[in-house]
Amino acid sequence: MLIRVNTLVGLILVVCFMSQRVTAQRPGINQDESKVPSFKLPEVLKLNGGGFVETAEAWESKRRLEVFNAMADNVYGHVPKRKVSVNFKVVSSWDIFEGTAIRKVVKIVFGDDQTNIATLLVTVPKTGSPVPCFLGYNFHGNHTTTDDPKVPITKSWVRKQKDNRATESGRGTSASRWPYREIVDAGYGLATIYYGDVDPDVHDEFKNGIHPLFFESGQTKPKETEWGSIGAWAWALSRCLDYLIEDQQVDGSKVAVIGHSRLGKTSLWAGASDPRFWITISNNSGCGGAALSRRQFGETVKVINRVFPHWFCDRFPSFSDRVESLPVDQHMLMALIAPRAVYVASATKDLWADPRGEYLSLQNANGVFALYGDPALGADPPAADKSVKTSLRGYHTRTGKHDITLYDWQQYVKFAKAQLDK
Ligand code: GCU
Repeated sequence: MLIRVNTLVGLILVVCFMSQRVTAQRPGINQDESKVPSFKLPEVLKLNGGGFVETAEAWESKRRLEVFNAMADNVYGHVPKRKVSVNFKVVSSWDIFEGTAIRKVVKIVFGDDQTNIATLLVTVPKTGSPVPCFLGYNFHGNHTTTDDPKVPITKSWVRKQKDNRATESGRGTSASRWPYREIVDAGYGLATIYYGDVDPDVHDEFKNGIHPLFFESGQTKPKETEWGSIGAWAWALSRCLDYLIEDQQVDGSKVAVIGHSRLGKTSLWAGASDPRFWITISNNSGCGGAALSRRQFGETVKVINRVFPHWFCDRFPSFSDRVESLPVDQHMLMALIAPRAVYVASATKDLWADPRGEYLSLQNANGVFALYGDPALGADPPAADKSVKTSLRGYHTRTGKHDITLYDWQQYVKFAKAQLDK
């Protein structure tokens, strides 16, 4: 009986928490469109020294770096200068899907000792030629993305597990977020890596994960404008891309970086930082991702810095109470991806992530995309479950909650196909 009561109480708490995620009447959190403050976004095309850039050439040679540095200085932090070795080794591979695809486990070693090891799981259709490929982090370990018994279980720190260790019981538990069969059948590869293999998602003062590999002698934490966890995760996605470029079965010029939620924040920063990414996809990334910070709708800069102090650089919290003074906003992150393609997706019940604000950052990057001939996006997002696409940008709001579903993936595959067909 006692257990039943406990279970019931637990269930009620979980339901309360989930409904908060959906409708979120959290104290101090606005989810009322009429209460969004009026604001002015920083001008993405205006040079620091004055004057506006009017050509793609001027954007690339003059303004883009200013915008990149401003995003890095104030939000995500810079990658430290120190060079760290990264080694890859394919440790196993096997056929799947009746021999139509191959799956391989790639061991990635960061640094010279054997303490920072990540595992990239690469699944590719056997088409006889190199395939375009999606690359994205998973939240709980590669083994949770599929029930394939051969996928190794991560030894790294994991969230929400007993002793923060992954076990066999997690196998396949996130499979709905990773529709391998559909992706492979459509002719694409899908590579995934557990983000905690790179940096455990806990504020540990940067003692674990890859940050210490980059410290100068005597340094114990990143400097004010050096990277937090999102910066480190994004950097490691670029290292995965280094591997994929060498993989004969993957077309290294066609790697789409994708992520959901905090990992969508990460995919956006990876896509903005590394011009080798073909397409950048943000699924429900919200505050610090696609959503405009100045709207202060749903999660705010203040809240995110308080709850996740390790995600961003140390300068970001200085804007918690004066977001209108941030030298950047998230439309500038979108602009950094131009002229490469970018897709943003929201969900109707994911108010915490500010669906409208996610659309508006893509829309407010119109000026930079226009330099490359991309048609302007309209002032309002499309109706739920309808996507809007220009030649370089795509957006939809899926009906439902904060998640990445088969429907979302189908839109990404269609968008990728449209890019291939151009
Ligand atoms: C929390 C956080 C969000 C984040 C999300 C996730 O809700 O506030 O910023 O996107 O977790 O990653 O699931």
